[in-house]
Amino acid sequence: MKWMTFILLALATLGSSCSPRTDQPIAPVRDYERMVVGRLDADYIGNEACLAKCHKHDLKKENFNKSVHGEQVDAASGLPLVNCESCHGPGSLAVAELEIAPSGEQRCRIDTLLALGELPSQAQSLICLKCHSAASSPNLAMWSGSSHDSNEVSCFNCHKLHMGSQQKLNRHDMAETCYICHASVRNQFAQISHHPVNEHKMDCSDCHNPHGTMTKGMLREATVKATCTRCHMEYQGPFVFEHADVTEDCTNCHSPHGSPNNPLLAVSQPFLCMQCHAGHSASNRSAVGTLSSPEMKQTFFNRCTDCHSSIHGTDVPSRHGRGTFLSR
Ligand code: HEC
Ligand code: HEC
Ligand code: HEC
Ligand code: HEC
Ligand code: HEC
Ligand code: HEC
Ligand code: HEC
Ligand code: HEC
Ligand code: HEC
Repeated sequence: MKWMTFILLALATLGSSCSPRTDQPIAPVRDYERMVVGRLDADYIGNEACLAKCHKHDLKKENFNKSVHGEQVDAASGLPLVNCESCHGPGSLAVAELEIAPSGEQRCRIDTLLALGELPSQAQSLICLKCHSAASSPNLAMWSGSSHDSNEVSCFNCHKLHMGSQQKLNRHDMAETCYICHASVRNQFAQISHHPVNEHKMDCSDCHNPHGTMTKGMLREATVKATCTRCHMEYQGPFVFEHADVTEDCTNCHSPHGSPNNPLLAVSQPFLCMQCHAGHSASNRSAVGTLSSPEMKQTFFNRCTDCHSSIHGTDVPSRHGRGTFLSR
């Protein structure tokens, strides 16, 4: 656990770079990486030297070279900007002397590299954040303190960098990756009425930014309504006749992921409406005078939107003279 103390110290020092104690130079990140490994004598040797000795990682190298990371070249020096050691730490000791794995194969001394898998999750993320600062990746501006960051989820949980050349989370596999931890959300999308995420017509990231946002629920936009009306623009308003401010939060009536009630209704009618209104029948609504038969007058209306069809708001006044009643 010695490296734990090291990394905490290292990170604490890095974090305090804006403190008034300017007499001590801040060591470059690479020096801290050496400290984390516990070997200040380890050195950076570059991909070629790293990978020349054993060909076990040929596929990783090939994938890496084709990836966005492999393609990054420093404009000034012409040298690669990202290499194996950017994440795994200095490699000179690992290849100085190969060891024999329990399987009998030769391999590099992995115990001299950063034990990425064992680092605390926030330290894992810092490996990536040393380059992916908020300035270079605006999407990550709210990462610090986000639900994921503060609940022990790290970049590695979603970004599987050696699964191929794709460094982003593949849109096709995204939901499955999220469901690993969000089992109840999987159940919601399995309901009869659901957004077509499992059908791959849209994705979790159409509504969420898993790197964190200002909004509750890490929604992409500033409000629920703005998130929904990116696609359902017809309900954006403003309307002459609004449903008060009820439609400001679409989740007052809709379950965003899925529901047993069409179309994505949190509760079925009439109970949905009766959470806020008393229901009515023809007999206690004089304006419904067109319904003249006595039976109809007694009937309690239970599909409220049969008449109040413009439930999201409308510009058209009602035929009944008083306001709109959201009826057309
Ligand atoms: C952008 C960061 C990054 C770069 C660059 C990178 N790796 Fe990795 N590598 C990781 C992460 C993260 C893991 C997973 C750690 C874990 O969970 O144990 C990993 C795991 C590995 C593993 C062991 C697990 C496995 O998948 O078999 C090997 C071997 C490896 N990397 C080799 C390489 C080589 C060789 C290169 C250069 C061609 C390289 N890595 C470049 C981040 C990186
Ligand atoms: C040495 C610097 C460096 C490190 C360390 C690093 N990256 Fe990157 N990464 C870059 C650069 C540069 C780019 C390309 C420019 C960009 O998209 O911002 C990039 C691009 C990406 C992309 C976009 C890929 C695409 O297809 O658009 C992802 C995803 C990514 N990195 C994830 C990670 C993760 C996860 C880690 C930590 C395991 C990591 N990076 C560590 C420098 C780095
Ligand atoms: C909960 C899962 C998850 C975590 C944790 C996560 N990412 Fe991502 N990341 C994604 C998804 C999903 C996308 C793709 C978004 C899309 O395609 O719309 C993505 C895209 C990216 C991109 C591509 C460019 C962009 O801004 O869209 C970068 C860079 C990136 N992530 C870096 C990181 C880094 C660095 C961390 C850790 C600090 C991290 N991610 C943590 C899921 C995650
Ligand atoms: C490694 C596990 C893990 C993975 C993978 C994961 N999450 Fe999470 N997520 C969590 C934890 C833990 C929390 C915080 C506790 C909670 O709210 O359940 C959380 C919270 C959330 C929240 C609620 C945020 C809030 O502020 O209420 C959203 C939204 C979310 N995750 C979306 C996603 C999406 C989208 C993906 C896939 C791109 C994803 N998660 C992948 C573990 C994970
Ligand atoms: C149509 C937009 C939309 C899509 C697509 C979507 N979500 Fe959500 N999600 C929301 C909204 C809206 C909320 C509620 C936010 C709030 O007000 O708290 C939410 C809440 C959540 C929460 C926190 C509350 C809970 O139910 O536990 C998690 C976790 C979550 N979503 C994960 C996911 C995952 C994983 C996916 C993809 C499989 C996904 N979401 C796809 C809109 C969406
Ligand atoms: C990325 C675009 C997108 C976003 C964002 C989005 N939706 Fe949808 N929505 C769709 C698609 C696609 C369908 C499926 C339409 C179909 O199957 O014909 C759908 C279907 C629906 C339906 C059911 C319609 C029907 O006829 O069954 C409702 C209700 C709905 N969305 C409400 C919402 C709410 C509420 C939000 C915000 C939490 C939201 N949508 C965000 C794209 C989106
Ligand atoms: C007061 C409750 C309520 C609120 C709030 C609400 N809806 Fe609805 N929505 C309904 C009802 C009820 C239906 C079904 C209407 C029907 O079956 O006649 C519906 C249907 C829909 C449909 C499918 C019908 C169609 O036009 O394709 C979409 C999409 C939709 N709503 C999106 C939204 C969006 C986006 C918001 C937020 C801006 C929102 N709703 C807010 C009650 C509501
Ligand atoms: C979250 C609470 C809430 C829900 C759920 C809700 N409403 Fe409303 N509704 C209101 C408020 C608040 C008003 C405005 C105050 C008023 O006139 O009583 C309103 C007004 C109305 C009006 C009168 C509009 C006018 O022009 O005077 C009608 C009609 C109506 N709602 C029908 C419905 C129907 C039908 C449903 C179910 C699909 C429904 N409401 C669901 C809160 C709600
Ligand atoms: C057969 C058509 C019809 C159905 C079905 C119906 N309504 Fe109405 N509703 C009306 C008409 C017409 C008015 C206007 C009556 C008036 O002028 O007093 C009205 C008025 C209202 C008002 C406004 C009352 C006021 O005085 O401001 C509310 C709220 C309302 N309905 C809710 C509901 C709810 C909830 C349901 C479902 C349980 C429902 N309605 C079903 C036709 C209907």
